[in-house]
Amino acid sequence: MKILVTGGTGYIGSHTCVELLESGYEVVIVDNLCNSKEEVVDFIKEITHKDVTFYKGDVCDKKLMQKIFKENKIDAVIHFAGLKAVGESVEMPLYYYRNNIGSTITLCEVMNEYNCKKIVFSSSATVYGSPHKLPIKEDFPLEATNPYGRTKLYNEGILNDLYVADNNWSVALLRYFNPIGAHPSGLIGENPNDIPNNLMPYIVKVATKELEILNIFGNDYNTKDGTGVRDYIHVVDLAKAHVKAIDEVLKTKGVDIYNLGTGHGYSVLEIVETFKKVNKVDVPYQIVARRAGDIDACYADATYAKEKLHWEATKEIEEMCQDSYNFAIKYKNKHNN
Ligand code: NAD
Ligand code: UD1
Repeated sequence: MKILVTGGTGYIGSHTCVELLESGYEVVIVDNLCNSKEEVVDFIKEITHKDVTFYKGDVCDKKLMQKIFKENKIDAVIHFAGLKAVGESVEMPLYYYRNNIGSTITLCEVMNEYNCKKIVFSSSATVYGSPHKLPIKEDFPLEATNPYGRTKLYNEGILNDLYVADNNWSVALLRYFNPIGAHPSGLIGENPNDIPNNLMPYIVKVATKELEILNIFGNDYNTKDGTGVRDYIHVVDLAKAHVKAIDEVLKTKGVDIYNLGTGHGYSVLEIVETFKKVNKVDVPYQIVARRAGDIDACYADATYAKEKLHWEATKEIEEMCQDSYNFAIKYKNKHNN
């Protein structure tokens, strides 16, 4: 079975390609490299000892997408390609709508053309906005608080509408909580080009002394120690969930929604302390004002994924911190020599 992975050289996409290949799927990647590097294709091959077909280009480019479907008999698609920086989406909403929604429309038009109607889509826990209670279940009210979040909600709606119009579609909407960590080989991981927005890549850059100090955004939240609580999930666990979702969409029809998290919440201070302890490295920090739009706490009820997909996150927070740092050190050594 051949799976097209859009955004396959990105952080979650690359780990998913590894898991797909190791589960016996063939993989075709399309990525315009706006937030990743082509070398990732070689690392995926190195880890798995399997071949991968790579197309450099934009999912919004209909001619390219038609060429990909013409040259490969695609059985299903995992659609990761998208822009994901919340702050940037507020500054450049049209860029986000064009890229994140335009890519989905073009992709689905071409899928229809080639009668490939099976798709797994990368959504986000951000679609729950400010949850009214915890843990978060899939049927909680949805709310977007910024253009990035709106692109996720609209894309979910578009895929749902496709199924309503044509019951041959099979759609899995995966709502990720906070992916961190890296492949244990240290070959692939998260490597933002600019100053990171998210907690773990920022901690890593402070630990490697590329940034001076971690700013902790507020210690007056209604949480165990006042700092924000999130459901951090190892990216390899998350990648494995995609394989289960592909197995499922290949054999069913309809729309299914899954929360992908561990079900446990950790505070910013707990993450920092664990990172320092397991990696034996200092992470200086200071408490600063809250970041606009942040919520107190967010963690998943992932029971449905366990029941339906027989998937459950297994990796602990210590391993997530270790693997994030391991990748950063290896990456730094490789690129500085
Ligand atoms: P990433 O930026 O590492 O990967 C996305 C990839 O898509 C990149 O390689 C980028 O070059 C590519 N891309 C973007 N637009 C494209 C286009 N139009 N055509 C072709 N390629 C394009 O991000 P990630 O963390 O791996 O996230 C993957 C998906 O998961 C995204 O849709 C993101 O919104 C979603 N998501 C991520 C998180 C997270 O915390 N990382 C959380 C929830 C949801
Ligand atoms: C953020 C996005 C969310 C997106 C997700 C994955 C916002 C408001 N939310 O989620 O839409 O789906 O990333 O891309 O941007 N923190 C610090 N210092 C830092 C960075 C973060 O204290 O330098 C804190 C935050 O206040 C939060 C926690 O760490 O309590 C996690 O933050 P982050 O990694 O940015 O993820 P989210 O805010 O959950």
